[in-house]
Amino acid sequence: MTIQRTLSIIKPDATKRNLVGKILAHIEDAGLKILGTRMLWLTENQAKEFYAVHKERPFYNELVEYMRSGPVVVTCLEGENAIEKYREVMGATNPENAADGTIRKLYAESLQCNSVHGSDAPETAQTEVSFFFNDESLFTY
Ligand code: CMP
Repeated sequence: MTIQRTLSIIKPDATKRNLVGKILAHIEDAGLKILGTRMLWLTENQAKEFYAVHKERPFYNELVEYMRSGPVVVTCLEGENAIEKYREVMGATNPENAADGTIRKLYAESLQCNSVHGSDAPETAQTEVSFFFNDESLFTY
């Protein structure tokens, strides 16, 4: 068991439907600790850069536009196997394939408007956490 950090984004479809508290409750109930969290409205450059790994995919432009359609809540989480654990709490990317009780099964509207993002591996987690947080804005407690 390793203690890991991971990045969560509560996406615009969820913030606009007042689901922030419910989603954070799923995270805390799973035993994941919130080290830092904030709401922001992504700029076009931030959305493009954050999802640059998908820039050749047909859905990239729509994804960037969607991620700028409302505010997001970015949260740094910590816990044992936090990366995989949060992916389990989120459920599959496509809500149609998500397991019962997961955030995406409960709240996602579609493959694109799937309510949450979570880092998929240790390297991406580190890059994604530092995309939004510096060390001074994360608390160990
Ligand atoms: P996320 O886990 O944040 O990673 C990339 C995002 O692209 C994904 O969630 C969805 O919001 C969005 N997306 C839109 N279309 C697709 C697709 N066909 N395959 C994967 N992701 C998609």
